[in-house]
Amino acid sequence: MRQATNLRQTSLFPGIEEERADKADTTSTFQDNLSLPVHRWFRFSAGFSAAWAREVIEREKANGRERVLDPFAGSGTILLEGEQANVSAIGIEAHPFISRVARAKLYWREDPTAFREYAFSLLQHAKRHHACPLEPPKLIEQCFPHEVLIRLYSLKQAWLSAADDSPPSELAWLALISILRACSPVGTAQWQYVLPNKTKARPIDPYAAFESKVWEISNDMGMRQGLTLGPKAKLYWEDARMCISVADAWADLVITSPPYANNYDYADATRLEMTFMGEIQGWGDLQNAVRKYLVRSCTQHVAEQSGETFGLLDNPLLDPIRKEITRVCRDLEAEREHHGGKKPYHTMIAAYFLDMARAWTALSRATAKGALVCFVVGDSAPYGVYVPVDKWLGDLALAVGFKSYCFEKTRDRNVKWKNRKHRVPLHEGRLWVNG
Ligand SMILES: C[S@@+](CC[C@H](N)C(=O)[O-])C[C@H]1O[C@@H](n2cnc3c(N)ncnc32)[C@H](O)[C@@H]1O
Repeated sequence: MRQATNLRQTSLFPGIEEERADKADTTSTFQDNLSLPVHRWFRFSAGFSAAWAREVIEREKANGRERVLDPFAGSGTILLEGEQANVSAIGIEAHPFISRVARAKLYWREDPTAFREYAFSLLQHAKRHHACPLEPPKLIEQCFPHEVLIRLYSLKQAWLSAADDSPPSELAWLALISILRACSPVGTAQWQYVLPNKTKARPIDPYAAFESKVWEISNDMGMRQGLTLGPKAKLYWEDARMCISVADAWADLVITSPPYANNYDYADATRLEMTFMGEIQGWGDLQNAVRKYLVRSCTQHVAEQSGETFGLLDNPLLDPIRKEITRVCRDLEAEREHHGGKKPYHTMIAAYFLDMARAWTALSRATAKGALVCFVVGDSAPYGVYVPVDKWLGDLALAVGFKSYCFEKTRDRNVKWKNRKHRVPLHEGRLWVNG
């Protein structure tokens, strides 16, 4: 095992970054990307800031690092910024729907006019051939009034009638699935759940929304084609716990944001879109269609495994944090008896860190000596029991051969106590690991 430095500090750039951390730091959020070409094609609330990613890639390129890996690539932020910065980029994303979104975004190099003509022919087809869903799934019925649904289904039918795996077809798919929430008059929160009981002031007509999305996409394609020279990024629908398609010692820079251990259900985040496209019938299908591929970071994921918690903890990969994680899991197991939902957070935490230990093992193989790794992470406190996520992830990295780590805090979370289930202060930031 390499020597562990285990240095912890609040900032890599004391002074400058600490001052920034006091203001609202949005670098770990997708917010700023909504005004950026290509990034804005699909709003993925779990994404992080493209501008910040670009800064890090450019800075590390100046340090000689030209191969960037994102093992939890999401909607492709790092891949797009790697291309812009003219470095080689590889992304791994296990969520089938989100990885398809990222892949479609990487088609920005295609002919924008050909795409626009293709998409507008679908729109004309939809306007001429109305499709009426016979028995739409309940969620879809709750989210869209009948006349809106007819237009959306007509677009879907038009898309289906011509669908193949070609880039224009995939871009048209992206245009369609990315307008759904804007067309619904009910609240469709981007962050996880659809809220049929809230209303939206101005839903957009599906045909107008589709047309405007197609213009946005084709304009962005043209704009970006004038700016970007870099090699085409590669994206694999695969598991970060293996990184199978990444050659040994390939990456000299890793920038990523893994799932946090905070019970966010990535499978549920695309339930509306997947249900509309007929990929699932409802919530119950998410386990098989999506969740089974992902790092176990929510209790729904481990519902069947709560009896196996202490077996999971026996895995030697967890040796570096065994004492601490066992105590936390015991506390969580005891605490859940006092809560109505009796959520298996103890199992979720054990499974999460075992999965992340596997991801670190894969990364130690896929990274070169001297590589720099940046994990954007936040800690968590299910049922008010504190889980030092960044420290444990750092300790797991050291155990598989990384040399040192430090944590740079970017913002506090859960400091406004109102309406919170617990009062444990939390933070978010960047775990920097040196290979
Ligand atoms: C915080 S998001 C990353 C968002 C990304 N930085 C962006 O800007 O779009 C974490 C991602 O990890 C993915 N994920 C979860 N488990 C995975 C696994 N085992 N392998 C690869 N990706 C996984 C989730 O589907 C999710 O898209």
